[in-house]
Amino acid sequence: MSSLSAPPRPAMCPRQASSSSFAEAFDDARRKLDELGVREPGKEEEEEETPSPALSSSSSATDESAPSLVDTESPISPPTPIGAPTTPAAVDPDVVDNFAFAFDIDGVLIRGGQPIPEAIEAMKVLNGENEWGIKVPYIFLTNGGGKSEAERCRDLSQQLQIEVSPGQFICGHTPMRELADRYHTVLVVGGEGEKCREVAESYGFRDVITPGDILKANAATAPFRKLTPDEHANSRDLLARGNGSGRLSDVVIEAVFVFADSRDWASDLQIILDVAQSRGGRLETRSATFDEGPPIYFSHNDVVWSTAHQHARLGMGALRRAVETVFEATTGGRGVLRTHAFGKPQVSTFEFAARLLREWRATRHRQQRHGLPPTTTPTAAAAADAAADVPPATVYFVGDTPESDVRGANAMDAVAPNEWYSILVQTGVYQAGTEPRDKPRAVVGTVLDAVRHGLRREMEKLALARKPVADGHMPAPVEVRCDPLVEV
Ligand code: G3P
Ligand code: MG
Repeated sequence: MSSLSAPPRPAMCPRQASSSSFAEAFDDARRKLDELGVREPGKEEEEEETPSPALSSSSSATDESAPSLVDTESPISPPTPIGAPTTPAAVDPDVVDNFAFAFDIDGVLIRGGQPIPEAIEAMKVLNGENEWGIKVPYIFLTNGGGKSEAERCRDLSQQLQIEVSPGQFICGHTPMRELADRYHTVLVVGGEGEKCREVAESYGFRDVITPGDILKANAATAPFRKLTPDEHANSRDLLARGNGSGRLSDVVIEAVFVFADSRDWASDLQIILDVAQSRGGRLETRSATFDEGPPIYFSHNDVVWSTAHQHARLGMGALRRAVETVFEATTGGRGVLRTHAFGKPQVSTFEFAARLLREWRATRHRQQRHGLPPTTTPTAAAAADAAADVPPATVYFVGDTPESDVRGANAMDAVAPNEWYSILVQTGVYQAGTEPRDKPRAVVGTVLDAVRHGLRREMEKLALARKPVADGHMPAPVEVRCDPLVEV
């Protein structure tokens, strides 16, 4: 019997994990954020900063010969359409709200499409199957993509045997939705078949072109890439567009969006560079100065990621590097290439997660008061609302990739009013015994160890502060030993 167990509850039966209560509550919170227009003070300025030719961050800024590679953090926060509001559920007294978890997916919960066994256990622990009988809120923050959020959540619900809702889920391309009004004709790259086009159109993009459409119109675009009959059938006929002029050069790409990992690097690289070196995005044209190409948005910047292979595999960040390097090689170092990345480690992605957790907490607090006889004056109630309108004091961010998960959580911890505690697991990109470039607060074996580490740390805080766990429950005085593999 571990030293940490609280006296069992009378007549306790194994508690049904009610992940649905979190799923619904986060849908409510997400809907509320959409209604609120999702803006924290100062967000507008950030958006104004969205890429302008003047900005250059590449090392070649001083070296006249090198093209200037403009890459910026895209500060866009992702509203997601959520279903009809649910009737405010009775607030579950076992749910804690002073700490929460945020999970990376590949290499932490899932590997090569299969659930990591400890992940299923970890979700049960968070949904009440722990010695304190408490439930801890959690959200998912992945750089992955290539399917709609709803479809990914259906997959995840099956894999983790709990209900996961789009309200709890943020993926790499989710923020791209905000650019649907800014560009009309866009090139969407990556993913399986037509999936990314469907996601882009569901985000509101009006004229979505894929590399397959360009290859269908001009097979010589990528000499060694032959469309399969299905791909040919699914691709759209660009030559029949508009006035049926049959000229590909009538098509003007206003922006390129790489939604998910490319399934064919050679042809995608060729087509992205054709657009980047074109005259203002006009297909089949070549700019004389190589500085008039449209912006290229990548949904994340992970150079490697963890999947079924024992060693990490190349990811979208590697394709981005290839685009930048080959652009430089094929322009003789002239011109301008504008690339942008969303996803982790961008702080704006974590800021959106923080807003989601904060809104979940505020919504829950309002529901808690809902239907209760008003015991205080409206001003006191408003003050209580304001006090509750803060994110949980600590968010445990569990990831497997130091350069995106740990770097992002640490960067957020440096600027956030609450604590973002980075935990690195050894089931994905990070290899045990190696020195992570970005230092996590703790290194543990699996996500289950990470959840236990966070819970123990919180119980230690409470025990030390001698505060009740959740309404009416006192933790047994404990002598706690945090045993992550490494606590940094
Ligand atoms: O393509 C996705 C991959 O790079 C990482 O996904 O879940 O580990 O952020 P995730
Ligand atoms: Mg990962």
